[in-house]
Amino acid sequence: MGGRFVRSGRGDDSFLFMTLDTGDWMSKDRQVPVIAALLNNGYNHKRQTSFNMEVKVMRLVSTMNCVEGMEIAKPIFTDSGVVLLGSGVRLNQRIIKALLDRNIGMVYVRDKSTDDLVIQDTIPLEMRMEATHAIKETFVGMANFDKKYTRTVNYMHLDKLQNVFKSVIRELKNSKSEMNLLINAYAHDNYLFSHSVNVTIYSLSMAIKLGMDDKKLTEIAMGGILHDIGKTKIPQEILNKPGKLTYEEYEIIKKHPEYGFEILRNESSVSLLTAHCAFQHHEKLDGTGYPRGIKGDEIHPCAKIMAIADVFDAITSLRSYRKPLLPHEALEIVFAGAGTHFDYDLVQTFRTSVASYPIGVTVKLNTGETGVVVQYIYNAPGRPVVRIIKDPNGQELSNPYELDLSKHLTLMIIACDAIMG
Ligand SMILES: [Fe+2]
Ligand SMILES: [Fe+2]
Repeated sequence: MGGRFVRSGRGDDSFLFMTLDTGDWMSKDRQVPVIAALLNNGYNHKRQTSFNMEVKVMRLVSTMNCVEGMEIAKPIFTDSGVVLLGSGVRLNQRIIKALLDRNIGMVYVRDKSTDDLVIQDTIPLEMRMEATHAIKETFVGMANFDKKYTRTVNYMHLDKLQNVFKSVIRELKNSKSEMNLLINAYAHDNYLFSHSVNVTIYSLSMAIKLGMDDKKLTEIAMGGILHDIGKTKIPQEILNKPGKLTYEEYEIIKKHPEYGFEILRNESSVSLLTAHCAFQHHEKLDGTGYPRGIKGDEIHPCAKIMAIADVFDAITSLRSYRKPLLPHEALEIVFAGAGTHFDYDLVQTFRTSVASYPIGVTVKLNTGETGVVVQYIYNAPGRPVVRIIKDPNGQELSNPYELDLSKHLTLMIIACDAIMG
């Protein structure tokens, strides 16, 4: 067994190893000797045990709080597949500013206690890029329908889009891992396209948890992809305005669900349900939403799913006018709206679909110790496995150890900050 290996950041309890020399995932039978080697070296991921192996975790850091000299641990791509920053690049003020300008909210960095835990992407990068590209083509095609596109072209775009998202659905169904961070690993060329991909993935993961069949999942996917298509009719300067919108500007933005419905209901290859997702995704359970202020059961269940996914993605994304929230903060906001803005049961489903504490994030425990989240516990989303790296006095430990918070119920995360530590 040659070469180096890394332990994956998968959320289930199984080990998965990748050899760094070949980049291949190890088969189950090859994993056994690797696990044995790890255990022989004193590594035990389930107990509070110190270990001497160099099995380290890269750190997730808010871009706003990055400092010069930090080293990128995971390459950053644009939606179109261009490498913006390769791993190993050291940050300086110019690069940090460029990252913020590209709305990259967080980056994975290396520090001296950080090395090579592989953080699994929820869907493979190529698939995400393909999806974003297909969305771009469809949006441009549909928005310009009157001018230069024909129905045939639109039909082709939609067909392609559906096929891409069928693979996304397959991928999500096969993945046992939790949703880690969808948003921050990519520089998006256009917020609208990237947001549409994220809303679709969050909505699909909820719908899969709810046991919806493939036909429904495809409709949800189309609804998520096209929910904001009405924004193509809103002037760019209002859509991308940094800072607070005026009352009048906000009133214009609020027209996008109606515009979207108009675009989609005239499209024979789009189902009426998809059109209604666009129409209703800003409606709220208590009738305080827009455009119509409908409430309760008047809102379609799929639009209720989308409303949660939409808000969560919006508040966890970095925009020029505000900081992104970390997932546990965003989940609190979604929870605060459960029963009034959002369907209570769907919020519960959503809670089990996203990792409150993404792998790599730094946390402080009630014991005063500082650690890094290394594993997600599927049945206890708020209680991950934490690798303790500093004692209560802030002294770095020479022998870090792991604590499974789902088994140590007196321990609590009292602070979570991408920059702490
Ligand atoms: Fe919207
Ligand atoms: Fe949206």
